[in-house]
Amino acid sequence: MVGVRFVKVLDDQEALSRAAAAKFVLRAREAIEERGRFSVALSGGSTPRSVYRLLGEQYEDAVDWEKVVALIGDERNVPPDHEESNYRMALERLLAQVPIPHENLVRFRTENGPEAAAEAYEEEVRERFALGPSEMPRFDLVLLGLGTDAHTASLFPGTKALAETRRIAVANWVEKLATWRVTLTVPAINHARRIVFLVSGPDKVEPLRSVLEGPRDPERLPAQLIAPAKGEVHWLVDRVAAAGLTDRTLSR
Ligand code: 6PG
Repeated sequence: MVGVRFVKVLDDQEALSRAAAAKFVLRAREAIEERGRFSVALSGGSTPRSVYRLLGEQYEDAVDWEKVVALIGDERNVPPDHEESNYRMALERLLAQVPIPHENLVRFRTENGPEAAAEAYEEEVRERFALGPSEMPRFDLVLLGLGTDAHTASLFPGTKALAETRRIAVANWVEKLATWRVTLTVPAINHARRIVFLVSGPDKVEPLRSVLEGPRDPERLPAQLIAPAKGEVHWLVDRVAAAGLTDRTLSR
């Protein structure tokens, strides 16, 4: 089955967060029912904050959190308690609010430096998901955001990580930010059962339109690389961010 793409426009960010939380719970229940575990890679940035808060506040009883494995999908080159840390952001709003066992949290140990953090993360994923040296994990859900430059996770335009085909996670030098990032790779993301993009706000009109309706140019628009061979990509976008989309996209 070739990957299928769905685009859903929600009235506003609040509705988008509710829809994302509902999708998270649905996938979690289905995965736990079918496979006894739910593995989810969490996006960083600001858009998912309200989703994580909603899940942490209102869905504690809706998911068997003991059977959830939560991974941080990408990370800045800061310590885990830094205000810019994606791990800290997810921990405060969700992971510390629900009874997910601490040993079920997979983060980039950025305190050891970007390359070591990426290698250790990859090793932990291979071990936890019993993967051979060239196998990719099949996460049940990967949550992603979209940057104003059409990056996703820490896969930025023109960076080395875009071409990675073997590794699960890499350190990625981002020249325009003059900083290291660590991130899941395109193949690791594309191997997921389900990918959900969360896109909200006026500054995403242009990148969203370019990615979904513009010419294919993944070096400049890395989010175009996200297209699983056997999985589904759901774009949950608010009406403001969807302003540049045509019916050709919206009817899918
Ligand atoms: C990060 C994220 C990044 C984010 C986009 C969108 O580390 O910042 O992983 O990919 O999802 O930059 O960010 P906003 O949701 O803040 O617009």
